[in-house]
Amino acid sequence: MFAILKKKLHTLVDNAILLDNIILKNSEDELIVKLATQERCPENLKQIVNNCVGNVWGISEQLALFLSNTIHHFHSKNVLEFGAGSSSLVLAHSISSIGGGKLSSIEQHPTWCAENWKIVQEIENVDSQMIVGKPKWSFGISGIYFSFKESCLSDVASRAPYDLVLIDSPQFFFGRDGGVPLIYDYLVPNALIILDDAGRQFEKNTLFRWLRSYPGLSLVYYAPEFGGKGLAVLRCHHKQSPQFSFSAFISGIRDSYSIFKNSEFKKLRTQISFGCGSLTETASPSARKN
Ligand SMILES: C[S@@+](CC[C@H](N)C(=O)[O-])C[C@H]1O[C@@H](n2cnc3c(N)ncnc32)[C@H](O)[C@@H]1O
Repeated sequence: MFAILKKKLHTLVDNAILLDNIILKNSEDELIVKLATQERCPENLKQIVNNCVGNVWGISEQLALFLSNTIHHFHSKNVLEFGAGSSSLVLAHSISSIGGGKLSSIEQHPTWCAENWKIVQEIENVDSQMIVGKPKWSFGISGIYFSFKESCLSDVASRAPYDLVLIDSPQFFFGRDGGVPLIYDYLVPNALIILDDAGRQFEKNTLFRWLRSYPGLSLVYYAPEFGGKGLAVLRCHHKQSPQFSFSAFISGIRDSYSIFKNSEFKKLRTQISFGCGSLTETASPSARKN
């Protein structure tokens, strides 16, 4: 009985995701496509990405170029990112070159990117602040997910409203679901949300849940091969309250269940213990979700 129910739920969620994949393929905003498909990365941006200290998981050159193009085109002066590192350097340099602004970076492990962050803080005309965010198991509109709200909502609110948000963390099995619930109320109209690694199945599922649960968001660009990792861009067209979606909720529960079964998660479970997810600095890349 339980097995039949489980199979039915899997089919329901898979069908819903397939439907949304069709939406993914059809969603293209000409301007964003133009900003994302420029191929030649200027030497200075390449250097920023390549000289980044100890950055195995930094952003691709293609994403660096897209971020820089976007900031220049839209004049984005208040940027928030999840996951500091090479992206922070690219964002801060771009903000500085449009005359200055603010960069807020939510980071789980400030020590891993301390050297790069020191450089960020010296970039002219940029008010940069690192916000330490610890993902914590929470229950929300789309099931169980790792949320940042408890650890950093007040800091995020105090630097709002944001016109551009890059979501490139948390890493491993934490999943990226917590990004939109944290920032949704703090966006300017037409703000852009950029999701790195959007070619991976877990990130696609996250996109599906966001699109179903936050009707104010629409997908304006999706390229699963972008920079070798995939890219999705969402626009916050109008502020509409989040809504409950059965398929998003079930999909969230299903992904949480697969996290529970992940062997790396089992090893680290004692450190997470439904509290702050404090992984050690030596966590292996194999713990990444695929
Ligand atoms: C994809 S990385 C973020 C990369 C960042 N946006 C950049 O461009 O460099 C996501 C997160 O993984 C974590 N991370 C990276 N390397 C790590 C390591 N060796 N051990 C533990 N966590 C690590 C950091 O918290 C980081 O923010």
